[in-house]
This record gives sequence, structure tokens and C-alpha cells, in this order.
Amino acid sequence: MKKKVTKAIIPAAGFGTRMLPFTKAVPKELTPLVDKPVLQYVVEEAVSSGIEDIMIIISSGKEAVIRHFESAPELEMRLLESGKDKILSAVRASNSPARIEYIYQPQLNGLGGAIRLAENFAAGEPVAVLLGDTVLDSSAARPVTGQLIDVYEKYGSSVIALEQVDAEKVSSYGIADAELLAGNIFKLHDLMEKPSPEDAPGDLAVASRYLFTPGIFSALQKTTCGLHNEIQLTDAIRLLLKTENVFGCQVSGKRFDLGTPDGFIAANVEFAMRCPELRSKLMPRLRNILNH
Ligand code: G1P
Repeated sequence: MKKKVTKAIIPAAGFGTRMLPFTKAVPKELTPLVDKPVLQYVVEEAVSSGIEDIMIIISSGKEAVIRHFESAPELEMRLLESGKDKILSAVRASNSPARIEYIYQPQLNGLGGAIRLAENFAAGEPVAVLLGDTVLDSSAARPVTGQLIDVYEKYGSSVIALEQVDAEKVSSYGIADAELLAGNIFKLHDLMEKPSPEDAPGDLAVASRYLFTPGIFSALQKTTCGLHNEIQLTDAIRLLLKTENVFGCQVSGKRFDLGTPDGFIAANVEFAMRCPELRSKLMPRLRNILNH
């Protein structure tokens, strides 16, 4: 019997090395996309996909993540008194409707090492995994995590979000060796973590969202250190493939990775341009910059 997917894990423990020195004191998951931290978009995607319980994996020094999702009575009172209703509702919206719990990753030993810590939280149920530094802006009505849940409900197997990338980018991602089944659904044969373009089995990259059956935790227990001496989630998925089917879903949604300076700036420009008020303020300034 397939279980309803109501749980999600959001790993948010990493150092954010590509955004140093900004991330020395501020968690990269709190990088703003216009006026909201990237992690709030990720939590909102989970909630609008039907997720009710979230476990966020953090590390020491990233307590600001916890504070962001807590209520802030004094601040709210001040905003209420000064009639700043619009800002007040934006602040209240960050008190997530999902239950959020936190766990510390004591040793930063990779994405697989982080997910492994959530085994008790998953408690034998299927779980979604959403990387906390990446927004997947769905062009379809259904958010990307919801798209994965739909595939899980159809096939009863783990599903990984896939996106086509240019050949020179394959070395930044987990790359799938997959066979097209129908529409946007693939059967996964193998995965390679960050291959060179010559070794890559294709151009379909793992795109920051996963849906796992409980089998992923037994696979993670058996996964030893891989690339960069870290426990790679990709290696655990390869082990899972030995005992279960794993599907790929080429998702409809645009990915914004805010973990790099260019990704952060491009995402902010694009989201700002979608907001009429900001667009009209920014366009003259951008034209001016480009003309000089
Ligand atoms: C991780 C995964 C990789 C995946 C990528 C984007 O890499 O290990 O397989 O393609 O996220 O989802 P990272 O970007 O953390 O180095």
C-alpha cells in the first residue's frame, strides 16, 4: 500500500562556500530572493505540494534559520500599531503552516550524511527532499515537489527531478543514465556524481528535488565516503537501484540556484522584473548602467 506523502526533509547545513564571505555569519539558505529568503520559497513549495511535516537539517551557527520561521510577537505588534499591514502579513506568512523541526548535522560529511540523520523523522514513510538553496519555479500549476509526488503515487517508487543541462555544466551535477518511458518520465539505470563531460552518461541533471521510499535509508547506511570524501546521496541512490526501481521526472519548472554569486544576481533580476512596481523603478537604472 502506497502511503500518502506528507513529510519533507530540507538539508540546509552546508557552509555555503561559493558565497563566502557573505555566508560566514549568514546561512546561505537565508539569501534573499527580492524580499524573501530562498528557504522560505522552498518551504512554501513543500507546503503547496501537500507536505505537513518538515525536518530542516542545519549546522551549528545557522540558528537564524530557526528564528526565521518562528513568530516574532514584538515585531508583529509594532507593525500592527504603526498600521504597516502589508509588511505585517508578509512577516506572518513566514510562520509556516507546516510543522517544522530541526536537527543538527554534527559533522558536515555530505548531502547523504545529512539525509541519513532524518531516518527517525521519516519513520518508514516516503519523504520528499528539497535542497534549501534552490528555488524551482514551476511553470505548471503543480509545484515541482508535487509533480514528484504524483509520479510516486502512480508508480510507488522513488523519483528524482531531472533537468536538461548544457554539456559544459554536467560536471556540476549528478547526471542520470536514464531511459525515456513516456512523456517526461524516465526509468533510471544509473547516476554519476559530477562527471567530466567525456564520462557523463547524458545531459539530464539531478535538479534539487527528490522523492524517496524508505529504502533510501538502508542504502544510506551502506554508503561509504565517495567524491570529495563525502557521503554522496547519489551513491546511495545507486545502491537503491540495485533493489528498487527509481524513476526520473523531467520537471517543468525553472531552477534558480542562489548558492553562487551569478545565480543569486540573475535570480534576483528575473524575480524583480516580474514585479511591476520594481520593474518600473529598476528599468531606467538598468538602462543607465548598460549605456555606460
Ligand atoms: C547536489 C547533488 C547533485 C545535484 C545537485 C543539484 O550537489 O549532489 O547530484 O545535481 O545537488 O540538485 P551540490 O550542488 O550540493 O554540490
